[in-house]
Amino acid sequence: MSDTEKEVLSLEEASQLFQVSTKTFLKLLREDNIPARKIGREWRFSRTALLNWIAAGNSREYVSAEEDNKAYFAQVAPVYDEMRKDFYGEALRDILISRFPPEPGSTVADIGTGTGYLAKKLSETARVVNAIDISPAMLEVARKDLSQQELKTIRLIEGDAHDLPFEDDSQDMVYANLLLHHLLEPPLAIKEFYRILKTQGRIVLSDINRHNYQWTKVEKSDIWLGIERSELKRWLLDAGFSEIEIFDLGCNCRTSSKSGVTVEISMFGATGVKPS
Ligand SMILES: C[S@@+](CC[C@H](N)C(=O)[O-])C[C@H]1O[C@@H](n2cnc3c(N)ncnc32)[C@H](O)[C@@H]1O
Repeated sequence: MSDTEKEVLSLEEASQLFQVSTKTFLKLLREDNIPARKIGREWRFSRTALLNWIAAGNSREYVSAEEDNKAYFAQVAPVYDEMRKDFYGEALRDILISRFPPEPGSTVADIGTGTGYLAKKLSETARVVNAIDISPAMLEVARKDLSQQELKTIRLIEGDAHDLPFEDDSQDMVYANLLLHHLLEPPLAIKEFYRILKTQGRIVLSDINRHNYQWTKVEKSDIWLGIERSELKRWLLDAGFSEIEIFDLGCNCRTSSKSGVTVEISMFGATGVKPS
């Protein structure tokens, strides 16, 4: 019997069947009535029971949000740099990085790096930039666009913000621009950012403020209609951050609907420190 026909599945195999990370799958397991058995500390799943459960429509919304996100960025990757010039230009990273520059010689992470917008600027000062993204297509564009010199500093890594492939206490700073509103579980990702930061390390986030343009969910694969600042503050506090500041960035993200409506959504920056 080949692997694709195996009836009894481990947690990893069941997650693959759902095409989500094991963390996302564990959340489904906690919150929904997924058919599962626990043997000692190990989860076991029946392929047939899982496929029947999916076919009954139980998990479709949750799983498809993650898949839609990947499909959207695979589709826009070749033109993303052009789109970005119209969305938010170059000013945003200058504002952000001049306010919170990496120390020379430091190791930093750019989560949801896309085509390497922040990573490129960070590589001018940092010793190592771990640039991670869930979309292989976006990373491929980054790999083609970045110079050989930049690629000596920037490590392009495929991975999920909810489950980062970095050691605890390994990064001096963690940056993420316009990532949170694409995530299924921003609080879980923020806990990951905290985990991988060294003591006294700083998180630097930027994203769009809360808005009511519902079409961004369908047309731009946004999961959140911007981020509510009070909610973000709670996520940062819950993760353990201190010295939290959330502030106006002084720039907007411009985006257009298929029906031809163009809107400008104001952006915020946020920071916090992992205390000693
Ligand atoms: C709006 S783009 C921003 C890209 C980049 N930070 C920039 O400023 O140009 C959002 C990026 O987040 C990535 N992304 C979405 N969900 C992710 C996840 N769970 N883990 C890591 N990256 C993710 C997308 O693939 C995409 O490249």
